[in-house]
Amino acid sequence: MILEAKNIYKSFRNGVKKLPVLTNLNISVDKQETITIMGPSGSGKSTLLHILGTLDTPDSGSIKINQTDINTLKENQLALLRSHEIGFIFQFHHLLPEFTAFENVLIPTQIVGNTDSKTKRAVELFDYVGLKERKEHYPSQLSGGERLRVAVLRALINNPSIIFADEPTGNLDAGNAKKLLKLFKNISKDFEQSLVITTHNEEVASIGERQFILDHGVLNDRV
Ligand SMILES: Nc1ncnc2c1ncn2[C@@H]1O[C@H](COP(=O)(O)OP(=O)(O)OP(=O)(O)O)[C@@H](O)[C@H]1O
Ligand SMILES: [Mg+2]
Repeated sequence: MILEAKNIYKSFRNGVKKLPVLTNLNISVDKQETITIMGPSGSGKSTLLHILGTLDTPDSGSIKINQTDINTLKENQLALLRSHEIGFIFQFHHLLPEFTAFENVLIPTQIVGNTDSKTKRAVELFDYVGLKERKEHYPSQLSGGERLRVAVLRALINNPSIIFADEPTGNLDAGNAKKLLKLFKNISKDFEQSLVITTHNEEVASIGERQFILDHGVLNDRV
């Protein structure tokens, strides 16, 4: 088991009102498993991914990543676990505009301190996604689909156990969305990684070995 989340509660406070978003939610992810999550806008998909990816904390509940209960970790230990075990692909790619595509992909290695040993892998990854000729481009010089592929490489560079992708095809045209979908299918096969993807797209959802709908704070099987 790569990830196990139990009894997750999360609510947001709006003035005096408390808005429950996740209510007693459970999810587990196996090695190399792909899980997809659909759900209405505002149902809490991004909130859930941020919590599972240790970017946000739940009000209560436990999360284990590779058998480690993240509640037991200090902030610096958690940061290290995050950079080793977790890759994140955000809806709006979040590439740093002042760095080239190649430099963006290597940023997570600077956190871990293994940039030199990862440079060759970065070159291979650019080939892998067909961006061989785009390494020195800045994000503003890339198409939306290319930017997203660079963001995928950045999530892959440290070879994490699990990758979270929040609506990765949300801003892509149909052709680029298809390309990205193929890339995701290959990733779990070629790199033995687990994937958790949120999406509004039926085709993306259908690549999940398990497919869920987030609604009223819990995950139900997508039927
Ligand atoms: N920081 C915050 N403060 C207050 N409320 C928040 C905050 N973040 C999210 N929410 C609320 O939590 C709910 C879930 O938001 P979330 O972004 O997780 O939904 P989502 O399922 O990802 O939606 P979408 O499909 O539109 O991306 C929303 O009602 C949102 O308004
Ligand atoms: Mg969202």
